[in-house]
Amino acid sequence: MTFSIFPKAKSPILARCRDDYVTKMRHRYAPYYHALEAQKGTNIKLDGRDMIMLSSNDYLGLSFHPKVIEAGREALLKWGTSTTGARPSNGSRRYHLELEEKLAVFLGREACHVHSAGYLSCMSAIASFAQKGDVILADKNIHSCLWDGIRLSNASVERFSHNNPDDLRTVLTTLNTPAPKFVVVEGVYSMEGHICRLPEITEIAEAHDCFTILDDAHGFGVLGREGRGTIDHFGLNEGVDVVCGSLSKALASTGGFVAGSRDVIEYLRSHSKQTIFSAALCPSQAAVAIASLEVMQTEPEHHERLWSNTRKYRAMLKHLGLDLWESETPAVPIVLGSKERVYPFWKALLDKGIFTVMSIAPAVPAGKDLIRTAISAMHTDEQLERIAEAMAYAVKKL
Ligand SMILES: Cc1ncc(COP(=O)(O)O)c(C=O)c1O
Repeated sequence: MTFSIFPKAKSPILARCRDDYVTKMRHRYAPYYHALEAQKGTNIKLDGRDMIMLSSNDYLGLSFHPKVIEAGREALLKWGTSTTGARPSNGSRRYHLELEEKLAVFLGREACHVHSAGYLSCMSAIASFAQKGDVILADKNIHSCLWDGIRLSNASVERFSHNNPDDLRTVLTTLNTPAPKFVVVEGVYSMEGHICRLPEITEIAEAHDCFTILDDAHGFGVLGREGRGTIDHFGLNEGVDVVCGSLSKALASTGGFVAGSRDVIEYLRSHSKQTIFSAALCPSQAAVAIASLEVMQTEPEHHERLWSNTRKYRAMLKHLGLDLWESETPAVPIVLGSKERVYPFWKALLDKGIFTVMSIAPAVPAGKDLIRTAISAMHTDEQLERIAEAMAYAVKKL
């Protein structure tokens, strides 16, 4: 190797990594990447201290359900650890078909396809269908995976105000284009906890011949009969062409799904890069999702407990005068408005043994800096009392 006095071409990139402001701040305040030492449901251990998890998406609390654990264990023994391949080649197994059939029936769709991450599914739900020349109308607060799907598709994009059907109508009317059009929304907005105004949005989308894609990652298991999601919550039969979501929230697994008509899902199987070039969902993940789906339909107590906990929790936060951004679901943000207020609040909760996650602009709109909390069916009354005491303490610290 020759020695050169000239800077190597890669050095600007190494300098970019070394000098990155965001990474430096993350190391200084250490709000993220906490590695838990132990977990049993909502009881966790961090740095030798027993704490309560208040930020997970384990809405129904099924991640420690004995039937769900046993299903994962059995699948590991039967099928091994991994498919080590993509679905079109060597990665397809009968358990994928079983999960897909069960999810399709549960969601009232003809077909479904699963991936090894919800992120991949939701990207794929857009990037497989949209192409250059198409127009995508997107709620401005949708999740990063949906924006990535939009970018990959090369379609042009128009944003409409968050959960605002009137603005969607205005944008569509102003556009007035014969190009194929898509509307992309979430069922439950994960940061805000807002339920999508789906009846009005789908009515407008239909009137303008739009293909509608709904990411129901946080509505699935939470809203609707037995947790069938946002479409079921509103009793809608039509208007949504594709539903995508995650297996890593109410279903207590890891992975994601895209569901729709048979033609649409078969098209995805032919065109989705996230499907064709990524290893298939592993046996234990699929078995856990199948078992959780079964529990959702046979043990309604988890859903009931989730909502009674959510009502108690919201009342407690409102009593303390906190701004919950009008959340209507178990995803409950505590809006504090600036990072200078978010950090001490988050730290006070941590000091009192409550684990939460902070989210600051630009991850949330400016002025909406918040603590993201989420309630689980597994939270006990005693834990809710400890959470109430910690919240009162954190409010005093503001
Ligand atoms: C709305 C939404 N869609 C998709 C995803 C991606 O799901 P996963 O974490 O299973 O990859 C998330 C995860 O946070 C989400 O909140």
